[in-house]
Amino acid sequence: MLNIFKLGYVEFGVKDKQAMSSYYSDIMGFSLTEEGSDGRVYLSSAIDHHNIILTPSEESGVRSIGLQYTSDLSVQEVSEYLKFEFDITNEIKTEPGVDELIEFTDPEGYVIHLYPKMELVNPGFKTQGIIPNKIGHISLNVKDAKKQVAFYSKLGFVNTDWIEDFFAFMTCNRDHHVLNFCESGKHELHHLAFEMRNYNHLVEKIDFLRLNDIHLEWGPSRHGAGHNIACYHPDADGNRIELFTDADIFIKELGIFEPRPWHKDFPQKPKVWPTDECLSLWGVDFENALV
Ligand SMILES: [Fe+2]
Repeated sequence: MLNIFKLGYVEFGVKDKQAMSSYYSDIMGFSLTEEGSDGRVYLSSAIDHHNIILTPSEESGVRSIGLQYTSDLSVQEVSEYLKFEFDITNEIKTEPGVDELIEFTDPEGYVIHLYPKMELVNPGFKTQGIIPNKIGHISLNVKDAKKQVAFYSKLGFVNTDWIEDFFAFMTCNRDHHVLNFCESGKHELHHLAFEMRNYNHLVEKIDFLRLNDIHLEWGPSRHGAGHNIACYHPDADGNRIELFTDADIFIKELGIFEPRPWHKDFPQKPKVWPTDECLSLWGVDFENALV
């Protein structure tokens, strides 16, 4: 009926378009695929028309999140299905690179786009910048994480882990998490995460960040929930960016994660983690907490 399988893009409102364009082109290594007459900039990590949209705005922060899906239904039929099955008011729109998308707001007011097709581009073999594999996940601050979990479960996401009762992990594919909800009472991005090829790639690009005068806020260390090796830095607008590798792979059919030597549980199943077992499994403390 509706199979959401990928976090495709994130749109940021940006106060300083030049600085953010430079960050996502020169630092992240994305390709500029289109600049609209309205000033919006579209950047691609690989072959999608866009994975990041920068929209000039008085306010920084996430404006919309694009999720790609497959379905045997037309876009119009999916729109009706969402309306009548789940009472999700929505609208069909178009934007560069995406002929048809379904826009709605989730219970916390985040704007979500569902789209079945995106125009593809050919950036060639890139060598400059971080060049992550893909956007891995987005983490959002919310008022009610349980309500978000219930909503996205209806759309086919699976709740993998929790940190206590305030931080939820959800996936729509084999990645440990694609969406996070941090119950903080705020309405803003917690962080946006990009997947690196491996630990060598991660460390090399931490040096690259330093050479470009971008300092880490936290890490690298291995998290508990998800077991990703992660580090965090701010982009040009102050959005927290995670670079990670080696995250857990979820086997939905078995309800377990692929076994890894650093797991304590065999099999490792979705569970509730205490905070002190979750942030830094390597036992290192960092000056700045992730709050
Ligand atoms: Fe993360």
